[in-house]
Amino acid sequence: MMTTDGNGAAAPRLPRLGEPAPAFEAVTTQGTLRLEDFAGSWLVLFSHPADFTPVCTTEFAAFAKALPRFRELECELLGLSIDSVYSHIAWMRNVEEKLGVKVQFPVIADLDRQVALAYGMIMPGESRTETVRCVFVIDDRQNLRAMIYYPLTTGRNVEEILRLVKALQVADRSAVATPANWVEGEPVIVPPPLTQEAAAQRVATPDLECVDWYLCTRTL
Ligand code: BEZ
Repeated sequence: MMTTDGNGAAAPRLPRLGEPAPAFEAVTTQGTLRLEDFAGSWLVLFSHPADFTPVCTTEFAAFAKALPRFRELECELLGLSIDSVYSHIAWMRNVEEKLGVKVQFPVIADLDRQVALAYGMIMPGESRTETVRCVFVIDDRQNLRAMIYYPLTTGRNVEEILRLVKALQVADRSAVATPANWVEGEPVIVPPPLTQEAAAQRVATPDLECVDWYLCTRTL
């Protein structure tokens, strides 16, 4: 069955976790950038509905303040909206003047919607003309690792996005998973055993804290 958007037009396929992130070349506030330009570092690509709007302004200030903490994780930030580069420049200047926060990451001016369509950022039920509040975490090999979609009315929690990047990196580095509400420094979950013998060994393994054979944590 064909999926259609709010206008009855064929809807683009949404990107999928674990697959290569959709490639792009886009005009940004720091010149033309392509996805490949970020290869080798992690990337948080995020969209906002429109420049000069209140919730987006608070989000931009929060992302801009957190940029050094993302960079400590070797993770870059890249914003996007369906606005012109002139609008972005004027808004960035306004954010600096009014909130005292300099936005030092690039912002895509996606006037032709090419990036928004490739990433499924337009949800006609929310807005036909604006991107919703999306977050795409792309790893250093340019695979899409996580997606968050928020509606127009709800500003995102930048601490949660930092936590998500840290959790993905810890999972990669140590072949573990992270429990609910995990924050850096807390115990992590070891993958459950796949055989009866491994289950019996698991509960007898020192250094593991086991609730039962399938739920064991360790401190990194
Ligand atoms: C805002 O950022 O405040 C906003 C943008 C679009 C729709 C609703 C709120």
